Amino acid sequence: MSSRLKNITGTFDILPAGASREGVHAQGAAEWRYIEHRIRSIFERFQFEEIRTPILEPTELIARGIGQLTDIVSKEMFAFEREDTQYVLRPELTAPVMRAYLQHRMDQLGGAQKLFYIGPCFRAERPQKGRYRQFHQFGAEVIGVEAPMADAETIAVMMAIYHDFGVTNQRLRINSLGDAASRPRYRDALRAYFEPFKADLTETSLARLDKNPMRILDTKNEKERRLLDGAPRLVDFIDSESQEHYEAVKAYLADAGVAYIEDPFLVRGLDYYTRTAFELESDELGAQSALAGGGRYDLLAREIGEEVGVPAVGFAAGIERLFLAIEALGHAFPERSHPDVALVALGEAAGRWAFIQALALRASGLAVSVDLQGRSMKAQMRDANRSGARYVVIVGDTELAQRAAPVKHMATGNQESVAIDALAPYLTSHAPQGA
Ligand code: HAM
Repeated sequence: MSSRLKNITGTFDILPAGASREGVHAQGAAEWRYIEHRIRSIFERFQFEEIRTPILEPTELIARGIGQLTDIVSKEMFAFEREDTQYVLRPELTAPVMRAYLQHRMDQLGGAQKLFYIGPCFRAERPQKGRYRQFHQFGAEVIGVEAPMADAETIAVMMAIYHDFGVTNQRLRINSLGDAASRPRYRDALRAYFEPFKADLTETSLARLDKNPMRILDTKNEKERRLLDGAPRLVDFIDSESQEHYEAVKAYLADAGVAYIEDPFLVRGLDYYTRTAFELESDELGAQSALAGGGRYDLLAREIGEEVGVPAVGFAAGIERLFLAIEALGHAFPERSHPDVALVALGEAAGRWAFIQALALRASGLAVSVDLQGRSMKAQMRDANRSGARYVVIVGDTELAQRAAPVKHMATGNQESVAIDALAPYLTSHAPQGA
């Protein structure tokens, strides 16, 4: 057996040129940069500001914030203890962002805080396509606003990002979960409804019936889904203010031209939601159909120790799933960037010259490749061609002696002799970086 070490299942390396192994999805770093750049620029258009929080958080924050009974907290945390402190690798960023908001008294900055983030999250789930143990989320949180326009703005920025990538075939499902009092009432009603059907429930649902019957609504089991047809609906249990809020959110979505489907059984897998809850899904993804999810979480601040409630709404989305959706649609990513110049050096003296010349050209802003190991002209030319360099400069003893070298423009095949002391001005004027 080979003793070569490998990455942990459900995590992956992002390599310069990407990789595709056993159907495991692994784009290259250039594609990741491209995706992240576009996501950032949409958030900027909507005037969200970036927040970066630590990957390690106190376990208590996550347990209290997301809820002890959720799958994430009860089964999927990567948590450990060290010197009497309980740490967890963050499974999401909503609780951490709220912690940072409260800790840094960002409420005193006045008005709404519109924050966005991009970063890794960790959940000990069973890995499969679209579901990983380290995955990456982008998301946004609007903190300090109760008004329904904030819910609509959150959904609008999320939709704008998918549209920007040409992913337009998704479904937005929405629901209202009501206030803190609505849910216990609804839970009781659900328990009473399922009681006579106990014999028809799966083991998982039976276990949920007692503690968390709303989770039964997530069932994928056909028989149970049929049972749901007659089940009480949350919307009939919510308070009138939440109902009004919900109506207003829907009206704003209609104004924004955002299509949605009302799903009375949408409950989400995190406990902090009140009022608006939503999920964006796509058929392109297979079993893991959720591209993104979110909602309002006005009680989270209290759950994590604040005395007064802080109204907030947000969403988060999986970047790996965005990649899957983009690929399924056959959309191409832009080509990788190419060096402006490849220096091909023959012989030791030319090699040393090329090493120094490359530094000088880079200092003037050009992307330059240079051979590091004195290989043959053939090998260097092959690399220069492969790299897609715009210009190739070939230098040997003769060129050094004559202080002039051929500069080949690769797109046209034209070649020009240029004084080697004037290479930097020649190349910067012909191949300005980023052109
Ligand atoms: P969530 O539904 O748990 O919500 O996760 C949001 C998105 O993250 C999912 O729709 C999915 O695209 C991606 N995701 C989750 N788990 C995995 C995984 N194991 N592998 C790959 N992708 C995954 C939240 O995390 C909330 N914080 C959303 C939110 C923000 N609510 C309010 N503000």
